[in-house]
Amino acid sequence: MARQTISAGETLRPAREKVEMYMNSLLKKYDEEVLLEMENLAKKYNFPIIGRVVGNFLHVMAISIGAERIFEFGSGFGFSAYWFSMGMKGGELTLTDGNKTNIGIARKYLSRLSRRCDFKYYAAWAQDVFKETSGEFDIIYNDVDKGDYPEVWALARERIRPGGCYIADNALWYGRVTAEKVENDIEPGWTEAIKEHNALIFHDADFDAFINPARDGVLVARRK
Ligand SMILES: C[S@@+](CC[C@H](N)C(=O)[O-])C[C@H]1O[C@@H](n2cnc3c(N)ncnc32)[C@H](O)[C@@H]1O
Repeated sequence: MARQTISAGETLRPAREKVEMYMNSLLKKYDEEVLLEMENLAKKYNFPIIGRVVGNFLHVMAISIGAERIFEFGSGFGFSAYWFSMGMKGGELTLTDGNKTNIGIARKYLSRLSRRCDFKYYAAWAQDVFKETSGEFDIIYNDVDKGDYPEVWALARERIRPGGCYIADNALWYGRVTAEKVENDIEPGWTEAIKEHNALIFHDADFDAFINPARDGVLVARRK
């Protein structure tokens, strides 16, 4: 059998575009000004936000486990936090981003919302911030540079409460995970890191895992 190769740009996207559009059409109409401004900003700078379908999924995850303590590794300018916070009845949501400008914009947007949780903002390396926190979390969300995925999982798995969830975006890396050999990855080794991360989680006896194939794959692992 021929060796399968996938290069950047050649992804599974076209086959799923209509499905994504359909899923999007099922969502209720969200027209909050902050949300629309965030989406416009992402479009303008081609910034990789998770989008509404995955955002809605994060909201449902948070509300369904009664999340009161969430830690985000890689918050960008707050789009994913926007959706998590919608599903929180109180507690704290920690945002981290290595880029100071992103965190500044997140603070500006999220402070305009009436939410019941407290937002904490850190313009710093997420792994460092995490090590300086203590206690367990209901949800730990990972969306940092993909080469760091195995490291983030190793840090996070110990600190998720039983019944809580680890959630990682880009678990399918636009289909690259299906290839034996990947040419022109975004950064060398990122696909391998995601595959290692996914395998570690699915083989972890303390977690039940699933990849929701929406957008670029959202891995969810619930601690037993
Ligand atoms: C894909 S974006 C996050 C998007 C965001 N979760 C959303 O959907 O709204 C990844 C972000 O993580 C940040 N980042 C990457 N590696 C990081 C790390 N180790 N610590 C903190 N921030 C990191 C980048 O600056 C970038 O803003």
